Amino acid sequence: MRTIEIFDTTLRDGEQSPGVNLSTNEKMEIALQLERLGVNRIEAGFAAASPGDLQSIRNIAKRVKNSTIVSLSRARLQDIDKAWEALRDAESACLHTFLATSPIHRKYKLNMTKEQVIENAVAAVKHARKYFDLVEFSCEDGSRTELPYLIEVVQAVVDAGARIVNIPDTVGYTTPAEYGNIFTQLQNNVRGIENVRLSCHCHNDLGMAVANTLAAIEAGATQVEGTINGIGERAGNAALEEVALAIDTRKDFYQATTNLKLEEIARTSKLVSRLTGMFVPGNKAVVGANAFAHQSGIHQDGMLKESSTYEIIRPERVGVKATRLVLGKLSGRAAFKDRLVELGYELGQEELNEAFTRFKDLCDRKKDVSDEDIVALIDSKLVDVPEAYILENIQLSYGNNSVPTASIRVRTAAGEVLEEAACGNGSVDSIYKAIDRVTNEDVVLEDYKIVSITHGKDALGEVYVRLSQENGERTVQGRGVSTDILEASAKAYLGALNKLIARRSDAVEEVVM
Ligand code: KIV
Ligand code: ZN
Repeated sequence: MRTIEIFDTTLRDGEQSPGVNLSTNEKMEIALQLERLGVNRIEAGFAAASPGDLQSIRNIAKRVKNSTIVSLSRARLQDIDKAWEALRDAESACLHTFLATSPIHRKYKLNMTKEQVIENAVAAVKHARKYFDLVEFSCEDGSRTELPYLIEVVQAVVDAGARIVNIPDTVGYTTPAEYGNIFTQLQNNVRGIENVRLSCHCHNDLGMAVANTLAAIEAGATQVEGTINGIGERAGNAALEEVALAIDTRKDFYQATTNLKLEEIARTSKLVSRLTGMFVPGNKAVVGANAFAHQSGIHQDGMLKESSTYEIIRPERVGVKATRLVLGKLSGRAAFKDRLVELGYELGQEELNEAFTRFKDLCDRKKDVSDEDIVALIDSKLVDVPEAYILENIQLSYGNNSVPTASIRVRTAAGEVLEEAACGNGSVDSIYKAIDRVTNEDVVLEDYKIVSITHGKDALGEVYVRLSQENGERTVQGRGVSTDILEASAKAYLGALNKLIARRSDAVEEVVM
């Protein structure tokens, strides 16, 4: 059995998804969960992209101990120096530098000859090796590069000291057979390739990212790059949970394994979905809400007789538990704490007290509180920013033949109570206009989504909003959870506004964890 190493780029390529903009604390939260999941490498960002990115990588590098922390870097010496600044305190660090190699990129993007590309790639790898023991080189658009030239580039960077060589299918163009062949040819033609880890990195423009990744594994790749839930540029990257489950379920075929704790997959997927605001479609493989649901009578009958008739993955394998309705308003603090520990939360006394108060408040509105409710309750509060405004009260007047009117009362961080009212096109619109008035903020609502977290009439609703300011220069996300969708809408909006205000004063980026 070969061990396939997992390189997660949710925080870098994943964050390149349109509209996704994670705060420093949100990135930390995801990184800690990726460490729990057992990924070998976490690409935490691109240090030279901004001081905020550098700080995030630095924070993650200081805190995460069991995964190698990676920074992306162009093949430029200053970028590599920045990456070292971000990674110098890491227990285990890797520098990932890249340069495009394909004829299209050489001609139109880089305006470089083949020789210049090799010269720059080699210089970058040599410079990086002065700081880093582990250096990865990526041939951007490698799958559209002439194969003899690709072999030349890989030979040059291997000779220069790259220990991982990655061949991205940057634009999701290749087919499984073609992509696999690249890996075979590299192994047959590059001297010393047996001492180098070959890595695949696939985009999903033609819906083939996972298939291409698996073809590369078949052909000898031992590192897979991808993201949780397959988020990323355009149509996204290879979904790591799908690759991991394909390897695990078809061990007989791939003769390979990963070090992932597969039972952490569902939790990781939910966290990434919540923090990025990129919801997972119900029919998504492995982590979609319907992935383990059986609808037709024939299938249900088969399942009752023997689950392997229609189920190739047991839900528990990826951490999906049958919902247990165990807690309610008679549950005490000890039972609540036990359940939190089972769900993977270790809260300090103060956080626990605060969570318990919110749990009791939820029990007043909802008879049975499920594990999913508790996760939503905790996660919606864990990633906090300094709150410039705290929601105190919402009052709404609504009729299908009258203009909705909302009045809002908030408390400022200084303790001042402010109140405003506004009319709108609908209830949510009137709430948002009243909040704009009371906070005196000028924002654009870029996105609004609502989902039900659990089932039933008293289910918790989760609202996700994306706001921008200054012509899109600053974008933030906010989430709100409540049994009442209008309250959830107000919480999400005010939470996002608080983030905007915090980000403006740079308070969020300066939080060093
Ligand atoms: O898709 C790609 O080519 C990349 C590289 C920067 C590795 O993400
Ligand atoms: Zn990519």
